[in-house]
Order: sequence, then C-alpha cells, then structure tokens
Amino acid sequence: MSNHAHDPLATTRREALQAVAAVGVVSAVTASPAQAAASPSTLTFTELQRVYDDYHHVAPGHTTQVLLRMGDPLFVGAPQFDPMAQTAAAQKRQFGSESDYIGFMPLPLGSNSSTSGLLCVNHEMVHSTLMFPGVMEQYDDQRSKDMCDLEMVAHGHSIVEVARIDGKWTIKPDSKYNRRITPLETRIELTGPAAGHKRLKTRDDPTGRNVLGTFANCAGGETPWGTVMIAEENIQHYFGGDPSGTSEAANHEDMKLTTEVYFSWHKHYPRFDLAAEPHEPNRFGWMVEIDPYDPMSTPKKRTALGRFKHEGVGFAFTPDGRVAVYSGDDEAFQHIYRFVSARAWDKTNREKNRDIMDTGTLSVARFNDNETLTWLPLVWGQGPLTPANGFNDQGDVLIECRRAARLMGATPMDRPEEVVPNPVTGTVFAALTKNSKRAKTDGVNPRANNKHGGVLEMLPPGFEKQAADHGATTYGWRPFLLAGDPTQADSGAQYHADISANGWFSNPDNMTFDPKGRIWLSTDGSTDFDRADGLWAADVTGPGRALTKHFFACPTGAEMTGPCFTPDGTSLFVNVQHPGEGSGFKFPTTRWPDFQEGVPPRSSVVVVQRSDGKPIG
Ligand code: FEO
Ligand code: CA
Ligand code: CA
Repeated sequence: MSNHAHDPLATTRREALQAVAAVGVVSAVTASPAQAAASPSTLTFTELQRVYDDYHHVAPGHTTQVLLRMGDPLFVGAPQFDPMAQTAAAQKRQFGSESDYIGFMPLPLGSNSSTSGLLCVNHEMVHSTLMFPGVMEQYDDQRSKDMCDLEMVAHGHSIVEVARIDGKWTIKPDSKYNRRITPLETRIELTGPAAGHKRLKTRDDPTGRNVLGTFANCAGGETPWGTVMIAEENIQHYFGGDPSGTSEAANHEDMKLTTEVYFSWHKHYPRFDLAAEPHEPNRFGWMVEIDPYDPMSTPKKRTALGRFKHEGVGFAFTPDGRVAVYSGDDEAFQHIYRFVSARAWDKTNREKNRDIMDTGTLSVARFNDNETLTWLPLVWGQGPLTPANGFNDQGDVLIECRRAARLMGATPMDRPEEVVPNPVTGTVFAALTKNSKRAKTDGVNPRANNKHGGVLEMLPPGFEKQAADHGATTYGWRPFLLAGDPTQADSGAQYHADISANGWFSNPDNMTFDPKGRIWLSTDGSTDFDRADGLWAADVTGPGRALTKHFFACPTGAEMTGPCFTPDGTSLFVNVQHPGEGSGFKFPTTRWPDFQEGVPPRSSVVVVQRSDGKPIG
C-alpha cells in the first residue's frame, strides 16, 4: 500500500464516498414529468417501460431490425433454415446457435467505418430440446452421432460481412471474409508458455500444439490491432466419463467437469471422454485470437492469459504502451485476472503485434477492504507456485490458474462476468452477476445470498489525470452499483437516487461503452424473477452516475448478450440469446423472431438505430 501523503487514490476515495452519499436505497420510485425534465443523466432517450412478453421491445424513437437468425445462410448457395431437416452439413454453412459476443470490425481494416464491417459473433451453446425436433431429454446421453455433429457445428463463431445501405443493414453472402469456426472442423494453434506442455498432449495431437476447435464461446473483445479474442467459458458441459484414477482428476474437479455434463459428444468422440483422454479438457478454457481480416488464418489459443472459465476480455494500456488484458472467471467464488504484455504494441505495424500476448505477466486480483486492489503475479517459482505444490513450470500454473490464484490469496468474487476498461475514463468495470451461495461477505462482495449482482469499478492510478496505468501493482476500487429492486427495503440495492421503476435490473453480464464513455449493460438472469432481461445504460461520471435507464427488453426466456456500437454510435448490435429457454420444441414459450408454427425460437442479432439516424443515447 502506498503512503497516504503520496496516495494517488486519495481523491478517488473522497469522490467514492461522495458518490455513495448521493446514492442510497430508494424507498419510493415515482417520476413526474418535471423530474424527468430535470434528469441529471446525459442520456436523453425516453426510457422503455418495463415489459415481459414474447416479443422484443426498445425505447421509443428507435427502430429494430433482426439481422441474423440461427440457421440463416452465410454463403452463396448455403441452404435456407429448415427446422425439420437440420443437418451438420447445412448448419456449418449457416449462422450458428445462441449468439453471445459481437464484434463490429470496420471495413476496410484500419478505417473507422460505421457502414461497412465484419460482424464477429460467438455461438455459445445449443438448447437441443428447443432447437431440434425429436430431442426430448435435455441431457440425454444417447443422442446419435449425426445429432452430436449438428450440435458441434452450431457452436463456435461466425464472421460475416455486413453493410448499411439506405439506413438498413444487410449481410453479404458473397464476401471472401465469411467464415464459420467450429469445434468439429477448425484447426486451432496453442501458443505461449503452455503450448507443447505434456499435459496438453493427446493421442490425436502428440505435439500439444494443435487443437480441434473451440466451444462454449461466451463473450470476447477486440484487440487494438484489429483481431478479436473469444472466450472459452462453460467447457464443463461437454466432457463425459470418469477421470478419477487419472493424474488430472483434481484439476477436472476444480473446473466442475464431472458434475455438469449436458452433451453426449463423448459417446461418439473419445477425445471428449475424461477417462480415455484426460488431457483434452486442458486444451479448452483459454482465450482464442482470430484475425477476421484474413479468412485463411489459423486462430490461436493464447495460453499466457491462463485457463479458466473465461467470460470475455477487455484491453487497455500501460503508459509505455504495453497491453493490459482483463478477464473474469465466471463461477461463484472465482477470480478477476489481468495480463500485461512484456513489450509495447506497435500502432504502425500490425504484424509486430501478432504474438504480443504470448509473453508477459498474468496476475490475479486481491481486493482489500480499505478500497485498494493488489495484483498478485502468477509466476512459476514465486511464492507458493513451486514443485512443492505441484507446479513444475509456468505451463502448470496456467493450466491450473484457479488453484494458483487461491494459493496466492486472490479474492473469491460473486461470479465475474465481463471486465471491461472504459476508454474514456480509464477505469475498469467488472460485472459480478450473482452468487446466491455467498455466506461470508467482505468489502468488495458486501451482500450474502447475492441474487442480483452488481457492477464494480476498478481504479488504476493516474486515471483522474487521463493517465491510467494499467500495469500498476496497486489500484483502488469502488462500487458502481448494487443491482436488484431498490424499493425492497432489505434489497441492499444501490443506484443513483433518481432511479425509476424501469431503471433498476438484476444480473449484469455484458458491458460496452458508447463513444461518450457511457456504460451499456446487458443482463442474464431476470427471467428467474419473471422479468425480462435486456439492456440498461447510464453515465459513469458526473451527476448522472449510476442512474441506469432501461433501453431494450428481451422476449420470453431470453438473455441479452453482445452489445456493440459502430464507431460513430449510430448503430447498436445486440443478441437475443436463447429465446424460449426452459420450454421445448413442441410448445415453446415464444416463437421469436419468426412466429411461425413449427419454427423454433431462434437466437438472433438485432440492430438498433435511432429513427432520425443520430447517435444512440
Ligand atoms: Fe456465458 Fe458467463 O455467461
Ligand atoms: Ca456472459
Ligand atoms: Ca450469460
């Protein structure tokens, strides 16, 4: 901890205390027109009224367009979606399932275009009972190989060229950039300190450097040099068999690989059998870098960033241009990580940044109750990360990041989802979605049985002077908001005091910032409370800080993912993920967005624009 007289965080703490004083549990929520006119928020849109039905809704004065549905053809000659005749051969040339991360990568490369680009979209998973006729059991391990192949190619990632023409967005099936990346067919290279490690070697890959595919791709992020990083998150659903008796038993238990099996891929592909191929899971749980501008490029799993259930990734810089990469491990009581590259990135030579994330230092966060944060380095040979604890090299530390983090004294968090630096303020926002298992509280996780989650702000030194140091060892932190219904006396919710009846929410998950640095938060979990998930926005500084306003509501059963603006802020891409979740193919709770008998609800990308074409917000 730094000396208080020279403490760069002193002002910050004062501001934080003032902010907390201005915020509070609101006992009654009413908004008269006069109050609305005097809103301290810089966001001028009229708030969406809370609604939960089988359609989607957006704030007044905006248009929505369903741009890409699961099953839509991505290539010239690819088949149209046919719900009763879905095959792996068709699906691998169509848009995949359950979209999560969206990255808009301007075309041409290096431009700031807001009318032409590559949409890079993750396909996190498949709800087989909802999507496929004839699949009656959610976790049926007797599914056919054809069905497993179809599930596999519905996962992964899509890259598709899009353009805005006469105010409407359209996809270009004839684009040379269009691409599907799947766990069935795409070769991916492992790079960095763990590449070639003996615990990454398998029968199919004795080099420990070549993996077939990626899956469970939740959120992601765009690198400063124009590639995308996609996360491998809930890998525990995809492996079967019993690893007890193998050398990886404890490691696999730590990743919950034996208790949450959803798929039966291991029945047809031995590499997914934990007993037959105990090293295969060690090849998943990484961050994957893809160059969308080179359709022939091999995606790379960057092992220096560690292996855990990565939600996503966010980028910032040190004052000397090294790259800081933030990531959360989305499970109750897991941790927040930061990687800092060893060398500075090169703005003028894209090629020189190609492998920059292979060398650097990974750290994990310890949040101290005095509102400071210490980054603890996960470096082999330092502290407890030695052979005495089973770590024989840096590869072991990276493969078993969770155990290394615990031994170092990292703070167990309330399910870290996205961790994203705000490019305008220089501070870092972390969505802590919920943790109903929490009994013991601490400063940064102040609520037991935390059902609604919250958003935390991490404060690198120098941020107040527009000189945030994302390589520093010590940061500050302060709450941004604590979610839930502030009118419930015992909720513990904290927002701006002017929060409306529509402005509060539960379970923040994804986040992005508009060109003015305002936060846009999407949620996952409100359906448990019989409310719609959706999108909320707020100022992060000034008198409107944490005054969240409701912007978009999802249809029945869906969560909202992937919020992503074009560079000029006039178009906002979002995903409606798993509409109808909890129901089945015969009687789905919604048939969004097609509303045709026999057509299942389909996860889709929706584009929002203002009716007058001006920047959203
Ligand atoms: Fe896939 Fe953490 O949400
Ligand atoms: Ca997520
Ligand atoms: Ca989610």
